Amino acid sequence: MVQIDRLFSEVELRSGEFSFDENVARVFDDMISRSIPLYADVQRSVPVLSDLLDHEPLKVVDLGCSTGTSLIHLARSLPGRNLELIGIDNSTAMLDKCREKLVALKLQDQIKTLQADICRFEFSQASVVLMNYTLQFVDVELRSQILQRICESIRSGGFLLVSEKVAHEQPAMDEALVELYFEFKRRQGYSELEISRKRDALENVLVPLTIQGNLELFYAAGFERVEVLLKWFNFATFVCYPN
Ligand SMILES: C[S@@+](CC[C@H](N)C(=O)[O-])C[C@H]1O[C@@H](n2cnc3c(N)ncnc32)[C@H](O)[C@@H]1O
Repeated sequence: MVQIDRLFSEVELRSGEFSFDENVARVFDDMISRSIPLYADVQRSVPVLSDLLDHEPLKVVDLGCSTGTSLIHLARSLPGRNLELIGIDNSTAMLDKCREKLVALKLQDQIKTLQADICRFEFSQASVVLMNYTLQFVDVELRSQILQRICESIRSGGFLLVSEKVAHEQPAMDEALVELYFEFKRRQGYSELEISRKRDALENVLVPLTIQGNLELFYAAGFERVEVLLKWFNFATFVCYPN
């Protein structure tokens, strides 16, 4: 059963202390669906875009898989495909929650999970790499080498689907987008206290780049073609093709 996220009405973390621990894992599915605009649409796009590829097997690697939502959705949406599904995350608590869900759904044999840090992990060949709302948590200095290794790991015709919170280069516009985002969170039932406590906790933990900054990273990593698939004020989803 999905637990309602009331985390920041109960606890106050110091600035920059947010982590994917047991408290977050417990309420994560509710937290992410109420905190990321168009989250359900990004999830819906995963099987649709993956199914465009005729790879046999269709190997999908999810970097920062959290509780396994994308891979579970894939397994259920493409029952007729020969799928190889691998979720990677560095948080024990998130992977425990993921494995609990997989067992409950009897998908533990179909979806493999691995505890690893994507900054050091050696990626094997894959058709599709998912990296939704994960890169934003990685040290900015390390992002280009991760993207380069991902680019090299994608099989011909495949792609990287990456979603990020994004900043705007003009401060006034950036502030306006943040306010629109907080308005979204209020509509999702979060209080002012919850919104401001979470913002403080994420300070310097979630570091968004601009759309342009992300595009430069993708191209510098070796991707030949990048499309902005989806954009909502300060969130964006990109599809990056290595060839
Ligand atoms: C916002 S969640 C991702 C949500 C998920 N992709 C989805 O669509 O539901 C970010 C995840 O990335 C993981 N993460 C952050 N840094 C990581 C790293 N260096 N290596 C592996 N996983 C990481 C966190 O533990 C967390 O589960």
